[in-house]
Amino acid sequence: MFRDQHGLEMTAASEQAVARYDSMILHYLGIRSDTGDRLKDVFDADPEMLMAHCAKGNFMKLFCTPPLERKAEESLETAKQLMAVGATEREKQHVAALDAWCRGDVAGATDIWEAILLNYPADVLAMRLVHFTHFYLGDSAAMRDSVARSLPYWHADMPAYGFVLGLNAFGLEETGNYTEAERAGRRAVEINAKDIWATHAVAHVMEMQGRHRDGIAWLDGLFAKWDGCNNFRYHTWWHKCLFHLELEQFDVILDLYDTQVRADTTSADYLDMSNAIALLWRLEEVGADIGDRWVELADKAEDKIHDHIFAFHDAHYMMALAADGRQEKISEMLESLEGAAASEETTEGPVFRDVGRALCQAVAAFGAGEYDRVVALLSPVRRQVYRVGGSHAQRDLFFRVLTVAALRSNQHRLARALLAERNALNPSSPWGLKREAEALDGLGEAAAAEDARQRAAALRAA
Ligand SMILES: [Fe+2]
Repeated sequence: MFRDQHGLEMTAASEQAVARYDSMILHYLGIRSDTGDRLKDVFDADPEMLMAHCAKGNFMKLFCTPPLERKAEESLETAKQLMAVGATEREKQHVAALDAWCRGDVAGATDIWEAILLNYPADVLAMRLVHFTHFYLGDSAAMRDSVARSLPYWHADMPAYGFVLGLNAFGLEETGNYTEAERAGRRAVEINAKDIWATHAVAHVMEMQGRHRDGIAWLDGLFAKWDGCNNFRYHTWWHKCLFHLELEQFDVILDLYDTQVRADTTSADYLDMSNAIALLWRLEEVGADIGDRWVELADKAEDKIHDHIFAFHDAHYMMALAADGRQEKISEMLESLEGAAASEETTEGPVFRDVGRALCQAVAAFGAGEYDRVVALLSPVRRQVYRVGGSHAQRDLFFRVLTVAALRSNQHRLARALLAERNALNPSSPWGLKREAEALDGLGEAAAAEDARQRAAALRAA
């Protein structure tokens, strides 16, 4: 029996294999593009390491794409066979969690990882995976508390300590604890300037607080450190674009879109596509000329209309189809969504049923210019939209769909109410103030509208 870098018992063939596993885990936490290569190094040293097969299966699941889901199942089968030969209780729990996830029981997998963490708070693989599933289950309080529960067992000498602070930062940010979130995130980046997750958590704080210039400066000071990070760096560039969007610097955004956010136009990865789709949608909504950039995204979205892995992703794929007017595929996807919504076995079934389906229908209606219908579809579910997961910054996209639909269907009182909610949370968003001005114009309150417009202009000029 061996122990990993955080003192946890590991079933393995050699010290060398465990050392390589430790290295691989740190690369995974660092969101490094060579994590797969590090995993191959582990298998070279020990082709039968149970935890390495579990890690591989989970990594395959993290891609959220059907062909790799099948690879995850292969890893699960191998892990089960190895477990029969011998495994610790913790390792058996990891197999059970992967098994649950492969069956679409995301909530079950989440519960098992939390059970692991209760007894083994240094199990940073469980901690990182459950961070992901809490995120996509829309449970930001659980994301925060999951780390908080384990944090007392962590100290600065432990190799993954900084990464744990980065997870801590993001959970705090998503629950509105911006001061503590920024403190934890900055500490993590001091420990390791390449920690892109912690960097990203601090960017989220600045986004939520309307600190656009702070956000640009923060990311400008760190992007040179992202060499070697995987495609998550595109998402971090996406955040920089959101800051520029509030400043209406469309040329800067389109340049960043082409050179960073969507530098790899061959990618059909869900996060890469979500970044690009969400950015183009926002740009178009404020009247920027985005050229023919929808086409390649809509082409790839066509291949994903039957995926239904997370409703959050599906809503983005639908956006690409709707924005590019792919009527036939929109109809096909709407029909396919009925199957996802009928699922009784998976965690995501009720999410599709209760909110994901309506969200996709609303996006399709928006594309068709049926703004009354968008409002009718989204208004009843808007308090449930968090259940599709993603961050507040990402889900703001769906808020914009509803609000702009309210404006375009002359439901100015509703639009004003929605914007008053948003502006109360983030009074420094020029977008929110400009849209509020539109609603006020619609209500015949010209002086108040002018005041809102001037505040927006002052924020952009500041
Ligand atoms: Fe983000």
